[in-house]
Amino acid sequence: MHHIFKKTLACFGLVFLISYGTYAPAHATENLTLTNASTRNGQDLSGLWNYSIDPYKDGLYGFHGSAAGTGHQRFDPQDVDIITREQPESLYEYDLHRGAKTAIPSSWLTHSPEMRHYEGLVWYTRKFEAHIDKNQRAFLRFGAVNYSAKIYLNGKFIGEHEGGFTPFTFEITEHLLDGENYVGVGADSVRTNDSVPPPVTDWETYGGITRPVRLIITPETFIDDAWIRLGKDGKIAADITLNGVNTSQEITVSIPSLGFTMQGRTDKAGHWHGTHKAPKDMSLWSPDSPTLYDVQIKTGTDVLQERIGFRTIEVKGEDILLNGKPIFLRGISMHEEELGTNPSRIITEANARALLTEIKTGLNGNFVRLAHYPHSEITTRLADEIGIMVWSEIPVYWRINWTNPETLAVSRAMLSDNIKRDRNRASIILWSVGNETPISEPRNDFLRTLIADVRALDNTRLVTAALLTEKHDVNGTIVARIEDPLAGDLDVMAINTYDGWYGPIPLAEVHEIIWESDLGKPIVFSELGAGALAGFDEPDVTRKFSESYQAEYYRQTLRMSKNISALRGMSPWILKDFRSPRRQHPFYQQGWNRKGLISETGVRKQAFGVLAEHYREKQQNP
Ligand code: GCU
Repeated sequence: MHHIFKKTLACFGLVFLISYGTYAPAHATENLTLTNASTRNGQDLSGLWNYSIDPYKDGLYGFHGSAAGTGHQRFDPQDVDIITREQPESLYEYDLHRGAKTAIPSSWLTHSPEMRHYEGLVWYTRKFEAHIDKNQRAFLRFGAVNYSAKIYLNGKFIGEHEGGFTPFTFEITEHLLDGENYVGVGADSVRTNDSVPPPVTDWETYGGITRPVRLIITPETFIDDAWIRLGKDGKIAADITLNGVNTSQEITVSIPSLGFTMQGRTDKAGHWHGTHKAPKDMSLWSPDSPTLYDVQIKTGTDVLQERIGFRTIEVKGEDILLNGKPIFLRGISMHEEELGTNPSRIITEANARALLTEIKTGLNGNFVRLAHYPHSEITTRLADEIGIMVWSEIPVYWRINWTNPETLAVSRAMLSDNIKRDRNRASIILWSVGNETPISEPRNDFLRTLIADVRALDNTRLVTAALLTEKHDVNGTIVARIEDPLAGDLDVMAINTYDGWYGPIPLAEVHEIIWESDLGKPIVFSELGAGALAGFDEPDVTRKFSESYQAEYYRQTLRMSKNISALRGMSPWILKDFRSPRRQHPFYQQGWNRKGLISETGVRKQAFGVLAEHYREKQQNP
């Protein structure tokens, strides 16, 4: 697709650029996958970038709404200081070259104190050196820009993307200069009621270039997408897609350490699907034995390396089977936010490891719900390595505009980009298509479209969504029933439950709640939780937000969970206190959601020990 896009752009570039000022709101573009992008030939463009805020979009539009003119186009490569010396009467009301610099990737909230609550458009620029041969191609790949992005190279508009948590790539072969180049990014955090997610969420927006940017250089025809996995039939399956002009090529997929090779030939569209009996001595991936293999995919023009764990995941009645054996998901939920008093959604390997280790060894966990959006590939690759199963989801969250076709288009693109980016990750066992969405026919249709997309893109994993339940008083007993019409479409029914924190049921009665489900499917508690300010307790009363209340909430809810015969896992809300603009109690919250089992700096609360002990018992008596 990008090849065609590039040619079209080259032919009609003038028309496109003139009409640019009136461009229609765009959606996620048809993305390349570039499997294992961070290891591909090229250059990591992380580091110091110049930036400039632009709350009224002066860099895009003039005062009557036409395209911004000279002197305002902050994506232009020229050095304003030099230009205005050569043309003393020229007027420039920006100068990124002499502006502030900041370390990318990171959210602008931490660029400076006054940026802490900024919402809007920010321009980023940097120079980089590049040299490519005539038979090579060049791409710019962004790990994530939140929420939407306009990309320019050497002053030319290259493309735009909507969605703050999935990678996107543009071909720049035609525009790349031999030597110094100048990339411009217009990152805009503003969302509308048609966005995914909409403006109101229970987490900080973290606008900006929040994941690495990479210049990728490929041969004219390269391996774009390589998905290799173990099927329930005991065979290794491979789907390989080439991109370029010479797309019909011999393909070899090999696992050198197992002496395993499978071969085939891609068709004219560049695709090959092959299967081969798995080697007898292959070790299956699991949390207790997270074996990963180096896999090589080779064609006549390209070689790609990947590290892959092989396992199967399926549902049988009310059981979840990992490699054919029933498992219980001993989990916790987690936002993408590093430990510390002033996080910036900077997920380095060290930051991700600190969080995942607290789950694996601190909580005796084997599962993490990466809420509420696709997390960094650093985190999902680390989950592969450490041995933690993953729930991955897109931010179809609360009040989505179910009837807007563009909202559906963005959601589908986000889901597809997330699955194509991570379907080689053995740790991921669940794709979730929504969280706490209010029931309606348009919502059911919307989510069923996403469920069908998951089935089409990845028939090896389970589909779920975080649902709400109805509570009924039956002769004085509270009975919880799963009545969501979507439950029949899911492999695993996930429930968010907060009785004892939200709602009228007294904490002391929570353990008596009865759960009824006749769907014959596994249930997981995708959320349960209570807030506590670390270190806060009072001798004479156990109030909400005290550590003692949170710990008792966990004891009551875990006791209740033991009576649910179909329960096969949980991911309580949440590992760590996290920033949320909705949480402004001046003593307990100060802009933080305090349901963490650890504070923002990693201080463990009493409830941490309650859950860890529960999981230790589960580990010993599954
Ligand atoms: C909801 C929601 C979370 C939110 C949590 C809470 O279930 O899914 O995003 O943070 O409740 O109220 O803390």
